[in-house]
Amino acid sequence: MRGVKRQRRPALSNTPSAIRPMACVIVVAGMIALLCTFGCEKRAVVRSSPPAARLEVATLTNAHCILCHQQQPQTIEAHGDKHKTEVGCLDCHREHPPQGTNAIPACGLCHSGAPHYELKDCSSCHSDTHAPLDLTFEGDITGPCLTCHQQQGDEVKDHPSAHTNVACNECHVTHRQIPDCMICHEQHTEDMDSQTCLSCHPVHMPMVITYRQETPSHYCGACHEEASDLLEKNTTKHHDLACAFCHRDTHKMIPPCTACHSNPHGKGMLEKYSKCAQCHGIAHDLKA
Ligand code: HEC
Ligand code: HEC
Ligand code: HEC
Ligand code: HEC
Ligand code: HEC
Ligand code: HEC
Ligand code: HEC
Ligand code: HEC
Ligand code: HEC
Ligand code: HEC
Ligand code: HEC
Ligand code: HEC
Repeated sequence: MRGVKRQRRPALSNTPSAIRPMACVIVVAGMIALLCTFGCEKRAVVRSSPPAARLEVATLTNAHCILCHQQQPQTIEAHGDKHKTEVGCLDCHREHPPQGTNAIPACGLCHSGAPHYELKDCSSCHSDTHAPLDLTFEGDITGPCLTCHQQQGDEVKDHPSAHTNVACNECHVTHRQIPDCMICHEQHTEDMDSQTCLSCHPVHMPMVITYRQETPSHYCGACHEEASDLLEKNTTKHHDLACAFCHRDTHKMIPPCTACHSNPHGKGMLEKYSKCAQCHGIAHDLKA
């Protein structure tokens, strides 16, 4: 009685709910007869609208499939997405063995006209057509991602960095998933999280480093110990200024003193002593 029990499973959305077990047994028998009877015919048996002259039983519907195939209807019911709502079994499976040799449809039958649909081996990502959005990512699939995400591809290519050689799916292991930097890296300082990293490193071009003036100085100090120590000990008003206040926006930018102090002294004095450092030392170790 296992077969009967199975038929009571939640039916396809387009399955008439009133199929009774007995009716099913009869239909199954009919189906088998059907599949055999038309074994010698050239045309497909399984189709949505057979000629009117056929046996009544020849009108196959999606509801019949589940009698012999339990798995696919279940998958579609749970994960079919638009393959559940927009098409039925028979839209894709227009023929059936033994006589129908084209039981499996090509995707191109319905999907064409975009770069994405020119890809090879659709099933390498869409591993089960009955669950079209349950994606599997294996190997380096950077190229296929770019059929939809041109911008990220350009960022990575136009700004070569070590990430240019990391496959898209090495970071995005599943679609839309965003990785944490610390899966692969150590922080510069313990209090940084992934969002902090992104505030300096745009991930697809990580060496195009920019930062905001509010950036805490100890982030810089993680790599610039000497500058950090000097400024820490300094007792002038420079001591109170953040690294990012003077070294604005772009990494390695060095401001001239005059960017902030225009004409601090009379012209005469500056003609005699051309360098501020002659009297004031360097910015981090300023002598007032
Ligand atoms: C009476 C039982 C029965 C019914 C009803 C039935 N099938 Fe099948 N189907 C089979 C069997 C048995 C096979 C395996 C045939 C083979 O491998 O030669 C099969 C194979 C298939 C295959 C695989 C073909 C291939 O080339 O690998 C598809 C697709 C398929 N069926 C779809 C459907 C669809 C869609 C329906 C409903 C319209 C349906 N079947 C109804 C028994 C059935
Ligand atoms: C959007 C097209 C599409 C729809 C709708 C669809 N199938 Fe399929 N089916 C396929 C493709 C393509 C395959 C080949 C394997 C794969 O890619 O998943 C397949 C394979 C099969 C097989 C062979 C066994 C297997 O999984 O490889 C069966 C049986 C089957 N489908 C039955 C059904 C039934 C029953 C329905 C309706 C509930 C259905 N299919 C709906 C496209 C479809
Ligand atoms: C009989 C027509 C038909 C075939 C064959 C077919 N599809 Fe579809 N598919 C559709 C329709 C209709 C939609 C919904 C409209 C759209 O998104 O283009 C769709 C949607 C999809 C979606 C998006 C699902 C969603 O819910 O957004 C994916 C992914 C997909 N198809 C992949 C495939 C793949 C891969 C194949 C081949 C293995 C395939 N389709 C074969 C008709 C088909
Ligand atoms: C490298 C993996 C990959 C390959 C190969 C692939 N796809 Fe996709 N496909 C995707 C991803 C990722 C999406 C987006 C899914 C989402 O939006 O959640 C998608 C979405 C789709 C959609 C939904 C509509 C759309 O354009 O957004 C369809 C239809 C589709 N693919 C069909 C195909 C077909 C047909 C092939 C083969 C010619 C194919 N795909 C090959 C990964 C792939
Ligand atoms: C068929 C088109 C298609 C393909 C192929 C595709 N995507 Fe997408 N992807 C989309 C769509 C559509 C969205 C949703 C975009 C949105 O919400 O603005 C998306 C979203 C994303 C997001 C999340 C964006 C966010 O704002 O959270 C990431 C990450 C992503 N894709 C990575 C990838 C990677 C990596 C690949 C290749 C393995 C890929 N995609 C392949 C269509 C695709
Ligand atoms: C080193 C890891 C890594 C690599 C490699 C990577 N990404 Fe991302 N990607 C991320 C992170 C992290 C985010 C979140 C960025 C953010 O929030 O600012 C992201 C965001 C995205 C988004 C959402 C929109 C955006 O730009 O923020 C898309 C789409 C995307 N990536 C696609 C891709 C594609 C396509 C590739 C391959 C060319 C790729 N990614 C390579 C880590 C990576
Ligand atoms: C899946 C692993 C992975 C993830 C996740 C990842 N990276 Fe990387 N990243 C690498 C690899 C591999 C390199 C090259 C070797 C190295 O420097 O460790 C690299 C190098 C870098 C570099 C140096 C680039 C160069 O050209 O020298 C920076 C900066 C960087 N990553 C920042 C980030 C940030 C920020 C995040 C998070 C948004 C992140 N990475 C997420 C793998 C990853
Ligand atoms: C305040 C800005 C800033 C923040 C925040 C930041 N970085 Fe960096 N990062 C840099 C600078 C500047 C470099 C050195 C670039 C150079 O060598 O030219 C760097 C270099 C790197 C490198 C290259 C290898 C190395 O250590 O020199 C990696 C990897 C990296 N950062 C990852 C991260 C990660 C992960 C985070 C978050 C935990 C992060 N960064 C946060 C500014 C920052
Ligand atoms: C991950 C380590 C790292 C971090 C974090 C970092 N830097 Fe750097 N910085 C470097 C490296 C490496 C260089 C190149 C050193 C060289 O050329 O001798 C550099 C160079 C500089 C230079 C130019 C030095 C010169 O001699 O031309 C300045 C200025 C500078 N960094 C400021 C900062 C500031 C401000 C911050 C914080 C916003 C910061 N750095 C964060 C690693 C880092
Ligand atoms: C008052 C502005 C100011 C502040 C604050 C400041 N700098 Fe500088 N920094 C300069 C100037 C100007 C130079 C060029 C050398 C000079 O003339 O003093 C410089 C040079 C540097 C250099 C390259 C030469 C060297 O001394 O190593 C690095 C690296 C650097 N600063 C990092 C930092 C870091 C890290 C901080 C925060 C701890 C910081 N700076 C704070 C103005 C400043
Ligand atoms: C990004 C702007 C900036 C740069 C570049 C800069 N300073 Fe300053 N400096 C300041 C500010 C702000 C103060 C504090 C002014 C106040 O509070 O009145 C200051 C104060 C001073 C003072 C007075 C210190 C005190 O404690 O009274 C001297 C002297 C000075 N700067 C010299 C220099 C010299 C020399 C350089 C170049 C090596 C330099 N500054 C680069 C912003 C800057
Ligand atoms: C010959 C030595 C000498 C040189 C060269 C020199 N200064 Fe000064 N500077 C001083 C002395 C001494 C003071 C403190 C007395 C004063 O206020 O005039 C001072 C004060 C300052 C102050 C603080 C003014 C205030 O109102 O508190 C600033 C800012 C300053 N200098 C910037 C500069 C800059 C920028 C340069 C290079 C363009 C420079 N100095 C070159 C000797 C010098």
